[in-house]
Amino acid sequence: MSGTSGIEGKVVAITGAGSGIGEATALLLAERGAKVVLGARRTERLEALAARIEAAGGEAAWTRTDVTVREDLTGLVELARGRFGRLDVLVGNAGIGLISPLDEVRVEDWERMIDVNLKGVLYGIAAALPVFREQGTGHFVNTVSTAGLRVVPLQAVYAATKNAVRTLSEGLRQEAGDSLRVTVVSPGVTRTDFPDSMSAEMRAQVRDRMDAIAIPPDAIARAIAYAVEQPDNVDVGAIVVRPTAQA
Ligand SMILES: NC(=O)c1ccc[n+]([C@@H]2O[C@H](COP(=O)([O-])OP(=O)(O)OC[C@H]3O[C@@H](n4cnc5c(N)ncnc54)[C@H](OP(=O)(O)O)[C@@H]3O)[C@@H](O)[C@H]2O)c1
Repeated sequence: MSGTSGIEGKVVAITGAGSGIGEATALLLAERGAKVVLGARRTERLEALAARIEAAGGEAAWTRTDVTVREDLTGLVELARGRFGRLDVLVGNAGIGLISPLDEVRVEDWERMIDVNLKGVLYGIAAALPVFREQGTGHFVNTVSTAGLRVVPLQAVYAATKNAVRTLSEGLRQEAGDSLRVTVVSPGVTRTDFPDSMSAEMRAQVRDRMDAIAIPPDAIARAIAYAVEQPDNVDVGAIVVRPTAQA
């Protein structure tokens, strides 16, 4: 729905939509009247989430989307347009945290994080920006991280990818002119499946920290909803949401 504020009627595509923050965002926005377009690799999760949204009276579409494959992002945007006629918001949320000491020289993990966390967002921009220009309106929301705000050992490459997206988003905002909006949301420790992508040793450490202090993914979804629901001329640039207990 062009030219109006709020969430009702907006078409919102979300990457990494099958779990955690992406799933919570899809559920919240759909509950508030958005038409959500779900992308991730595990289609059984997308199918189940879409069914849950539809059973609650919402509207959802999904397609298998690997953000490291440029054509998959084009497909996600095309699904939004084909099914719902337009795309109002792209939430670039898919991400992995293959954290490790740099001394371990896990070059493949570094490349994987760059491919998913940075190039995945770039492919989303490549797919959605021409559509937003054609429509004269559009909103990019990218999930970054507090890891980029307070850089700590083991997270150097992960934080670098997230800060690259932060920089990219600001550059995009600078070039966007008065018709597009660009938001970065930086979650702190949030209770999701995020540790699943890590090595066993790192996973145990991160899970312990999650068990101790994490906030639920819905807290991040509410921040994304806040950015989306603003009037068209109000561009929420950055939101940081972390547990009060996080240093
Ligand atoms: N949890 C935290 O504490 C925290 C803190 C700060 C920032 N973040 C960021 O929040 C975002 C969401 O993570 P989360 O915490 O919600 O963890 P999550 O539950 O693991 O969700 C990440 C999602 O990304 C998807 N994904 C991974 N690789 C993908 C690929 N190549 N193509 C498409 N989708 C892919 C996964 O789905 P498939 O495997 O089905 O593709 C998964 O659903 C990430 O960008 C993460 O860096 C999380």
